[in-house]
Amino acid sequence: MNNDIEKVLYSEEDIAAACKRLGTQLAEDYHDKTPLIICVLKGAILFMTDVIRDMDIYAEIDFIDVSSYHGGTASTGTITLLKDLDTDVAGRDILLVEDIIDTGRTLKYLEDLLRDRKANSIKVCTLMDKPSGRVVEAKADYVGFNVPSEFVVGYGLDYEEKYRNLPYVGVLKPEVYSDK
Ligand code: XMP
Ligand code: MG
Repeated sequence: MNNDIEKVLYSEEDIAAACKRLGTQLAEDYHDKTPLIICVLKGAILFMTDVIRDMDIYAEIDFIDVSSYHGGTASTGTITLLKDLDTDVAGRDILLVEDIIDTGRTLKYLEDLLRDRKANSIKVCTLMDKPSGRVVEAKADYVGFNVPSEFVVGYGLDYEEKYRNLPYVGVLKPEVYSDK
C-alpha cells in the first residue's frame, strides 16, 4: 500500500501536532458547554478519534454518513444520507468534524439538516480545507491544513474505499488511477 504513494503531504507528526492545536483550542472554546461532536463518516473517523483526546471537556459523540463521491475522485453533486444520527440535535451545540471540505456541498447539506432540526449552534472542524474546490459557499471554523487542489488519501480518506488506514495523508501515483 505504501508503494502506491507518490508523496506524503502531512506526516503522522504533522497530523498529531494539528490535532493537539485544534483540540486544545476547541476545549477552550467549549469549556462551558457539552457539545455534540458529529463525525462525518467514513473519512473523519481517525481525525475525530484523535482530536477529542486533546479536549478535556464534557462532550458527546455521534456519527452521520453521507456520500457524494460514489467511488471516484470527482464529486457528483448529489448528496445521499446513508446513516442518520442517533441523537436529537434540537437545542444542542454541534461540532461537525470533517476530513476535507472540497466543493462545500457536503457541508452545506449537513448544516441545512442540522439547522432544520433546530440545533442551537453549529461549528465545523475539518482536518483539511481545499478552498480552490468550492462550488457552494461553505466555511470551516477550525482547519488543520489548507491543501492544494490534489486528490489526497490516507488517515481516513480513501480512493475506492482503500488507503483509509494509512497513518499519513498523501497523493497517489498516477498509475494507480490509470490501472483502473
Ligand atoms: P465536498 O465536495 O462535498 O466534499 O466538499 C466533501 C467530501 O468529499 C470527499 N473528498 C475527498 N476524499 N480525497 C478523498 O479521499 C480528496 O481529495 C477528497 N476531496 C473531497 C470527502 O469524503 C469529503 O468529506
Ligand atoms: Mg467525507
